[in-house]
Amino acid sequence: MEIKKVGVVGCGIMGGGIAQVCAQSGFQVVVSEVRDDLLKKGLAGIEGNLNRAVEKGRMKAEEKAAVMGRIKGTLETRDFGDCDVVIEAAIERMDLKKKIFADLENVTQKHALLASNTSSMSIIDMAMATKRPDKVLGLHFFNPVPVMRLMEIVRTIATSDETIETAKVFAKAVGKTAVIAKDTAGFIVNRILSSLMMTAVRMYEIGVASKEDIDTAVQLGLNHPMGPLALADLVGIDTCVAIVDTLYDEFKDPQYVTPSGMRDMVTAGYLGRKSGKGFYDYK
Ligand code: CAA
Repeated sequence: MEIKKVGVVGCGIMGGGIAQVCAQSGFQVVVSEVRDDLLKKGLAGIEGNLNRAVEKGRMKAEEKAAVMGRIKGTLETRDFGDCDVVIEAAIERMDLKKKIFADLENVTQKHALLASNTSSMSIIDMAMATKRPDKVLGLHFFNPVPVMRLMEIVRTIATSDETIETAKVFAKAVGKTAVIAKDTAGFIVNRILSSLMMTAVRMYEIGVASKEDIDTAVQLGLNHPMGPLALADLVGIDTCVAIVDTLYDEFKDPQYVTPSGMRDMVTAGYLGRKSGKGFYDYK
């Protein structure tokens, strides 16, 4: 099956990035939000990214206009009707995701693939909210989507071979290298990342070193582009907590117990870069 038109549910950091990368790769894109102000903010974020690329001489102004011209923002699920794949990038709540998948089942054509960009949640749970679990899979992008080269393709016990083959072609078309993971909590990357990140948070909480020194140690000692606490701020503290909670639910492994300080940060609204404060201050 050939993918020509892509739908993206959610125009936040991840959804906006996915919409941008797909449009830059030549696909027609429909991206939705739940409120007009969120849609405007998301589309402005995409335009801002493209403006930066133009300023840096990586993209011509006409190309930017063409990319924006391929992106249609909407508040209506029915606008996904002629998409060949729809990628859900909403917040990490299973009840909400199941509802989105059930709605997509009703409005999309029978051949359309339905994918989730969830960081860690069970894809088969979402698949069973539809009548086509063979066409449901995870397409997991990484933040910032335009920069990160990986896509995890997540296969459930019900996903068909044809769906996986189509997903591999799609990953290549949007410039990502695909890896295939089983539908287990955290797939490949977040299962590994969460161990590292939660260890770093606990070390910070018990005072083994300052947050700056923990991050510098990992950056320079392991050659990571940024330290784990700065990365938690980039990913979003609420998203990190959701991922670690999902890992604990599935594996009951104490390394995936969320440090209480992180839960306090979520309660206080210290969500990382997106709220202006997390482990670090961004104001
Ligand atoms: N959108 C688009 N482009 C961006 C960007 C964004 N949000 N942020 C940075 N970039 C681009 C810049 O434009 C720049 O491009 P050029 O080199 O072409 O000019 C390039 O990335 C480097 O950016 P900067 O010079 O501003 O900053 P940097 O060198 O410090 O890199 C970084 C920033 C790319 C974020 C880098 O620090 C990095 O790779 N960090 C690790 C990110 C990571 O691990 N992501 C995975 C998170 S886990 C995840 O996403 C899974 C999940 O489910 C939670």
